Amino acid sequence: MSFLEQIARRRTFGIISHPDAGKTTLTEKLLLFGGAIQEAGAVKNNKIKKSATSDFMEIERQRGISVATSVLAFNYNNKKINILDTPGHKDFAEDTFRTLTAVDSVIVVIDVAKGVEPQTEKLVEVCRMRNIPMLVFINKLDREGKDAFDLLDEVEQKLGLRVTPMSFPIGMGYDFKGIYNIWEKKLNLYSVNKTKISKGVEFTDISNPELDKAVGETAAETLREELELISEVYPEFNQDDYLNGELQPVFFGSALNNFGVKELLDAFIEIAPSPQPKKAEERLVDSKEKDMTGFVFKIHANMDPKHRDRLAFVKIVSGTFKRNTPYLHVRQGKKVKFSSPNAFFAEKKEIVDESFPGDIVGLHDTGNFKIGDTLTEGEELNFKGIPSFSPEHFRYVNNADPMKSKQLYKGLDQLMDEGVAQLFILEMNGRRVIGTVGALQFEVIQYRLEHEYGAKCTYENLNVHKACWVEPENPKNDEFEEFKRVKQRYLAKDKQGQLVFLADSAFTIQMTQSKYPSVKLHFTSEF
Ligand code: G4P
Repeated sequence: MSFLEQIARRRTFGIISHPDAGKTTLTEKLLLFGGAIQEAGAVKNNKIKKSATSDFMEIERQRGISVATSVLAFNYNNKKINILDTPGHKDFAEDTFRTLTAVDSVIVVIDVAKGVEPQTEKLVEVCRMRNIPMLVFINKLDREGKDAFDLLDEVEQKLGLRVTPMSFPIGMGYDFKGIYNIWEKKLNLYSVNKTKISKGVEFTDISNPELDKAVGETAAETLREELELISEVYPEFNQDDYLNGELQPVFFGSALNNFGVKELLDAFIEIAPSPQPKKAEERLVDSKEKDMTGFVFKIHANMDPKHRDRLAFVKIVSGTFKRNTPYLHVRQGKKVKFSSPNAFFAEKKEIVDESFPGDIVGLHDTGNFKIGDTLTEGEELNFKGIPSFSPEHFRYVNNADPMKSKQLYKGLDQLMDEGVAQLFILEMNGRRVIGTVGALQFEVIQYRLEHEYGAKCTYENLNVHKACWVEPENPKNDEFEEFKRVKQRYLAKDKQGQLVFLADSAFTIQMTQSKYPSVKLHFTSEF
């Protein structure tokens, strides 16, 4: 197969949803279609339980499982599908945001009864900002839920999307009869079957009386009216609009009952983008370029403290990644080569000789990589787009064992490189402040520092509402000097050395902005 054919057959995407909407179930059903797993239940353990508010042993266990499911790859209809796992738990939202920099498209799963939920809103907003093509799957049609049109309205309004239904349900819950596939002009009658694939009956002409026989007169009439309304109200599907992030096709189904999933997958492989060009600070890199480029979007530490190596997940952007070939680690300015790069297949890792754009390779690392690092064949490129967002929780971190300060700083450094949390160093006194998205991470850090680095830390509360990245219009003007003088106690540097204002309330941010209009405050490190 030629290099260009390899690119064209790849689909790399993530599934995003609010916890419990059915992401894991859908992933599993997709894997079943790809023949990558034999039975349902295989991916199930990949979830960080919602109840685990402070159970870090449980997190450690989950972390081990999630290495295996970070990337799930399989072949389907001659396409190579790479699903990148995005944790639904809100405490790990940052992980998900970073993973979204490595996908070419996403599937958004929504629970038909709950509609649009907060975590979905946040994640979709990130995708919208990046114009990532999105496809919506409305799940759990076997249960009573919201009216399909109301739900489409909700998706448009709350998520700011422009939708077009590609399939439409006939009834719902107790009355659920099936789905009309607008995309393929087929009727799929519902039958509870959790493993077998339902086959659709072609219905090109919706006025065909056979439809009445199949679903009953009333339901058939309603469907005809609804389809007419759809054709009047919603835009026709247009692939360019979808690829530009301007139009989002919607599918209905029930992941648990394996209903509507094949339709989703068939349409997905047809319309979803193959590996896309990616912006580097220096230029746009096209996937079809011959020279290999890629970037690290995730780092996973080894579970076994005796082997302190980590797995860096690299998304290949262009060219062919080859085993035992020297590549430039751009940030460190040195050549590195990898004798055992891992590729992912279903839930297994295996050593590969070659990987192509869209693929993810796992590289063993002893501490050389940071999230966002770029590998090339020699060109000085830095891929953009792994921003830090303001954490939600902040605490001072103190060294609890003076004999182990070296271990503590090394541990903190490496955990931050992995993206577990963010570290800020106060300008005034050099004290370290850890910022996290969820309260859970503080315990994870404490536990891992002790077990992996032999260091002990304690925390001290600190009243910070948000970290604001500071951008002065003119770094030399008096206003900026005054801002720095007055706010001295609240200024810190992040790991990249960028200036950050640790504001104690939303009111302070507002006041500061109006007092120093030329000093811009941002809630993300990328502006
Ligand atoms: P998540 O990864 O998005 O958090 O959701 P997950 O797939 O784990 O699904 C959450 C719950 O919703 C699970 O039930 C799952 O079985 C159920 N579910 C998923 N799809 C459907 C569907 O199409 N119809 C119905 N009725 N339920 C669905 P659970 O009770 O939390 O877990 P389990 O005991 O079934 O494993």
